[in-house]
Amino acid sequence: MGIVVNNLPRIREECEVLHISDRQLREIMKRLHQALLDGLGKDTHAKSIVKCWLTYIQDLPNGKERGKFLALDLGGTNFRVLIINLGANHFDMQSKIYAIPNHIMTGSGVDLFDHIAECLANFMKEHNVYEERLALGFTFSFPLKQIGLTKGILERWTKGFSCSGVVGEDVVQGLKDAIARRGDVQIDICAILNDTTGTLMSCAWKNHNCKIGLIVGTGSNACYVEKTENCELFDGEPGKENLLINTEWGAFGDDGALDFVRTEFDNEVDVSSINPGKQVQEKMISGMYMGELVRLALVKFTRMGLLFGGQGSDLLFQRGSFYTKYVSEIESDKQGDFTSCMEVLEELGLSHATEADMAAVRHVCECVSRRAAHLVSAGIATLLNKMDEPKVTVGIDGSVYRFHPHFHTLMCEKISQLVRPGLQFDLMLSEDGSGRGAALVAAVACRQSQQGV
Ligand code: BGC
Repeated sequence: MGIVVNNLPRIREECEVLHISDRQLREIMKRLHQALLDGLGKDTHAKSIVKCWLTYIQDLPNGKERGKFLALDLGGTNFRVLIINLGANHFDMQSKIYAIPNHIMTGSGVDLFDHIAECLANFMKEHNVYEERLALGFTFSFPLKQIGLTKGILERWTKGFSCSGVVGEDVVQGLKDAIARRGDVQIDICAILNDTTGTLMSCAWKNHNCKIGLIVGTGSNACYVEKTENCELFDGEPGKENLLINTEWGAFGDDGALDFVRTEFDNEVDVSSINPGKQVQEKMISGMYMGELVRLALVKFTRMGLLFGGQGSDLLFQRGSFYTKYVSEIESDKQGDFTSCMEVLEELGLSHATEADMAAVRHVCECVSRRAAHLVSAGIATLLNKMDEPKVTVGIDGSVYRFHPHFHTLMCEKISQLVRPGLQFDLMLSEDGSGRGAALVAAVACRQSQQGV
């Protein structure tokens, strides 16, 4: 029998680059705070990396919204159509998920909107509302410069989308045109909103302290309630005390602000992405990239001879083969048990992994996901400190937060350490963030137009 070398200490050492100290997190908070101020400021907004878009949503739901609404949720690899019936203290919701084939994600904008309109019409037929005229809330989870509640110009695509002819254009108009081209269904688009906004709205329907909406899913972003006096770009009706701001913090770091904590793995994820140099913070946090970060570290350690006896597999060396859901699965194993880890490694053609290899793989997953949770926590603590309210609930959605076994706990711990003493917070999982939120925004808009507000 050969000598069994324990490589774990070496691997732990190598993984140190993925550890962000509290001092570094506080520096990140300082930089993010400045970036938020730049985004809100009249003279600094144009050059600001973190855009802090106004959402034109000023009123949170008050629970009195009633009626039947459609919602559309576009922002990841799938999109959803929903129909929602709001009643007194209850709602009834039905939805259907439609795939967006890759050729549509990277094709033309016209084809994308035609595809969405076709799915909408089919959905209306299936739910026997094909003949009705319905209001629709459109969750569109990309950086959007909003000009009003029903007008928004796409600033850039993220998360693997690259449809041509949409950047710089009004997305609501794009969808309206596609609906008009069909000519068969009657839909009034009442509002366009971000998924963070939808999440905040849907949590605020139940919990009136909810003043931050967060997504940690395919992408990463947050919105929050800001005092109107701090929003220098606001030109809407006066008299409103608060505004909802869509920070688009996924772009934080695009100017190098995070370079002092970025690693070779981050760099590699970035250069081989569809949008190099863009969405730097998002690429360190979100589900679209987390698995790939882990894979790159595993590849490095295999090549160094520290893992799998120096022997990888075709799949291990293939980009995108380590899904982010694997990170959640591997970390769901109890300490000392490697059942899920073994399954994942077998799927990747690494059945020769030893128990020491599995412990190392788990450690890499933990380092990558913990770093993500800490970066998100630094962001949330920055917002909480800025808002300076005694108690704020953060409404959260997204696959990483929802399915990772420790993300919630890691966030609670880290935010408590970073937030100014005396400020209380809690983290609330949204039941159905973006979809229901979109319908609620549409409902609030309708409530206001019915009341003539
Ligand atoms: C988009 C945001 C969105 C986030 C979460 C980012 O890539 O730019 O608008 O909120 O993903 O879906």
